[in-house]
Amino acid sequence: MVGTSIKLNGIALVGSGSATPSQEISNEHLGDRVETSDEWIRTRTGIGTRRISAPQENLSNLAHRSASEAIVMAGWDPADVELILLATSTPDDLFGSAPQVQALLGATNAVAFDLTAACSGFLFALVSAAQFLRTGSMKRALVIGADQLSRWVDWDDRGTCVLFGDGAGAVALESTAPDQDGLLGFKLKSDGRRGDSLTLRQIDEHLPLVDGSSHQRGGFSPIQMNGQEVFKFAAREVPMILQNLLSQTATDAASLDWLLLHQANQRILDAVADRFAIPHEKVLSNLANYGNTSAATIPLMLDEAVRSGLVQPGHLIASSGFGAGLSWGAALLRWQGPS
Ligand code: ACO
Repeated sequence: MVGTSIKLNGIALVGSGSATPSQEISNEHLGDRVETSDEWIRTRTGIGTRRISAPQENLSNLAHRSASEAIVMAGWDPADVELILLATSTPDDLFGSAPQVQALLGATNAVAFDLTAACSGFLFALVSAAQFLRTGSMKRALVIGADQLSRWVDWDDRGTCVLFGDGAGAVALESTAPDQDGLLGFKLKSDGRRGDSLTLRQIDEHLPLVDGSSHQRGGFSPIQMNGQEVFKFAAREVPMILQNLLSQTATDAASLDWLLLHQANQRILDAVADRFAIPHEKVLSNLANYGNTSAATIPLMLDEAVRSGLVQPGHLIASSGFGAGLSWGAALLRWQGPS
């Protein structure tokens, strides 16, 4: 029997963008609301300040601003975009916010939809979008990670409210020749059995309907988190999945230019770097300025690093996201930048 070999395309990361809301709330500010201190927050998390959306700043606008920057960097016309994947847990509309982003961009030829995987959402969306490009069914995709957890946090719960901020980041992906592939490997995982340690659940409010039947009113309770469980989960699973990824791709940790982890806690970033003997200068971090922006942390950090010249064309980046679900993943990326 003669086998047919299918040549799959490569994926090039050719543009990035980011956006954050205008209000800045520092640790000191938060001390006016809950019993906490700059010292406690900084030493436990590395966070110094965060951006919080004003009521009129919505998710679609943040996502649109970041995507628009990525399109400009890539040198595309909005009409070139064929796919918009918006990773978010906090859409403006539960039916999905990606079509609004598509409309704001004027990306009239794109199909647009949301994908939810909490703080792992960006990596999950990146890998999902890549499949369309690999097979050649699409040529250009935008992947956006955007969240406004400020809308779902209990601002009187000092155990969670100090951790989160709002933001958006985007990357522009293009299909390319197989030998120019920028997605060198990935691993994605979920474990719903451990999901209780971080939730944003529907409220449990039952209302009468007709004739003894009842229904539940829609609406969500604020974020609930067992911080120590989440910390242990990340400290165990992130090094493990990164190790698997490096083995699968036969990559030596010493050859990485950057470690780009979900920005949840500086102690997690440092512990993972130490596990692989990666110098701390190679660990990208902007936690001090934004806190944990959920699905946005990785593309927001990537965009800042690209625009400041830290990340250069050809650089090898190991990235890992983790969060509610529980969910986690890792990807080995090579930044190409615009041609
Ligand atoms: N300010 C001052 N004190 C506080 C605060 C605060 N903001 N929050 C909690 N405390 C107190 C607690 O009440 C407790 O006091 P007690 O000893 O008198 O009971 C004490 O500080 C220690 O609390 P712990 O919860 O044990 O503190 P811990 O060292 O575990 O740090 C933290 C808490 C920072 C949340 C840590 O567990 C953590 O980072 N976990 C991971 C969380 C995370 O990354 N979540 C997001 C990942 S997933 C996603 O991105 C959606």
